[in-house]
Formats: sequence, structure tokens, C-alpha cells
Amino acid sequence: MASSNIALAERFTDGCYDQGLSEVLRGLLYIPRQLSHVWLYDERGCRLFEKICQLPEYYLTRTETGIMTRDASAMAALLGAQLAVIELGSGDGTKTRLLLDALVHPRSYVPVDIAASSLARTARAMQRDYPQLQVLPLCADFTRPLQLPPLGSARRLLYFPGSTLGNYAPEDAVRLLRSMREVAGPEGAALIGFDLIKERSLLERAYDDADGVTAEFNLNSLRHVNRRLGIGLDVSHFRHRAVWVAAEQRIEMHLVSTADQTARVGAAVIRLQRGDFIRTEYAYKYTLEGFARLAQQAGWSLSQGWSDAQRWFRVQLLAAN
Ligand code: AVI
Repeated sequence: MASSNIALAERFTDGCYDQGLSEVLRGLLYIPRQLSHVWLYDERGCRLFEKICQLPEYYLTRTETGIMTRDASAMAALLGAQLAVIELGSGDGTKTRLLLDALVHPRSYVPVDIAASSLARTARAMQRDYPQLQVLPLCADFTRPLQLPPLGSARRLLYFPGSTLGNYAPEDAVRLLRSMREVAGPEGAALIGFDLIKERSLLERAYDDADGVTAEFNLNSLRHVNRRLGIGLDVSHFRHRAVWVAAEQRIEMHLVSTADQTARVGAAVIRLQRGDFIRTEYAYKYTLEGFARLAQQAGWSLSQGWSDAQRWFRVQLLAAN
């Protein structure tokens, strides 16, 4: 079962987005101009993101990994044995492994990701290293209703690390948390990694590193959408910008036009003046109270949580109400 799922995932093409030309154009033609963050993640974008996770300025990954290293056994003690772990978005697996190593006889692992080739890679590596675990990869957009494989009576744990929730506006984050609540069922739990509000300079540097890796990651989304949808915007006439918008409690990534420019797509004409920008990503940061409000609106209640000594990041356990 597991290996045939892995083979199936390998047959999908990467990034099976259903964002078509008309939706992208609507985003680019009207102010505020925006391009969905999903366009950041083609093959090259995924590699650049892996590089970002290693950067000194990008404290998120190492801080969350530190919390998992220190506290996964306390998490496991609260969660109990024989869990089905469903992970939304499959990263390089470091944090997942720390969790699986601490859990008592986890029964199954369902990584859910839209990027088929990295999903298949993760699934194969997990199956190799955890032969007792049923590994059931699911190639899907986790913002849509999920068709999970049969998981029997195992208690379900939804694992959503990496501060990925922060890439969704509050109403979308509540929608996502609500669908996680449905997938978890009445006895289920969730473990979510989210980033805490901190000093502006630390936040802005994390999203605008000295080596320009994040800049390249951002510009690559334009290359991706140009290639996939034939938009024809000139990437050399944009620069990366990351700003902390305190009133909204979020970092915004922008692509700022460095020249007056025009791109024609069929009958549509995209016109940008020097200084105009396209918003490509939100990264919301939370207070514990703010996060609790979102979770409660979605039918979860806060259980125990773990932070690093500087209180930069938090891994929060949620119980179904
Ligand atoms: C994937 N996501 C949680 C990252 C973040 O921090 O919002 C994406 C990212 N964007 C720029 N750097 C990293």
C-alpha cells in the first residue's frame, strides 16, 4: 500500500496548482497587486527555500528544531501511543524525525504536499528509515478538502511545523485550522509551529538576508509564473523588499518595479511604474493570545506549548474541543 502510494506520487507533475492565468492576471492588474505565495515553490524555489532555512538571519528553522530536540519527548508523553501523524507540507523531515523518534509506536505517517517529487523523496526516505511505520504520501493542496487514506482507529495528530500557517491571512488561517480540526476528528490533536512577534530589525533581516538568497527566492516566483503562464514580465526590472507591517502583525514580501514597464498577455496589459510593487507573500507573526483566538475560532483549545529561551518561536499542542 505504502510503496504503491509512493509510486503514484512520483507520477504527478510538480506544483499541480489550479491557479490559472485569469486568477494570476486579476492579481497583477488590480491594486494592491499580488501574486500567490504558491508561485515561490517550483523546483528551484524549493531548493532556495532549503538554503534560506540554513541562513544565520533566518532564525525560524533552527529555533523550532531546537525546541523539538529539547521537548519532543514531553510532547510524546502527552500525545500517547499508536498515533497516525498527518503532516501538512513535507519539508526535509528533520523536525518530523525528532517527533517520530520520540513518539511511542507511531502507526502511520501521511505527508501531504503539492510538490510531488519532493513528497515522493520524503516518503521513500521515511519508509527506509522507519520500516515499521505505514508511510502514506498524499499529493494534494492542503488548503482544499483532503481525501485521506484509511487510517483505522488510530488517534490522529495533525503536524503543521515551520510557521507555514503564518503565510495565510487570518480568515484563511482559521479556515485551514478548521479543516485540520475536521481531519483530526473528535479525539484528535494538532501540533503547530508558529513564529512570535519580535523586534522589527530581526524580522526584516530574516526575510532580507545579506547573501540575497531570499531576494532570489522572491524573484524566482516571477520567473516561475512567466514560464508557466507566459506572462513576460522582465525579472531584471524588479527588486526584492521585505517590510514589517506592524498594524497587521506581518512581514510582506514585495517585488518592486525599478522601471516603468509594460507586459502584454493576450488582450490584457500589465502596466507598472517605477516604485509600483507586487505583493508575493505574507508571513504573519503572533502573540500567544492572538494565536489562541484563531485556534478557538476553528474549534481547537490550547493545550501545552513550548518556546525557546528568547521566546522567538512556539510549538503549540492543540486539542479538539
Ligand atoms: C514557508 N514559510 C513558512 C516561510 C516563511 O518564513 O514565511 C517562507 C519564506 N519566505 C521567505 N523566507 C522564507
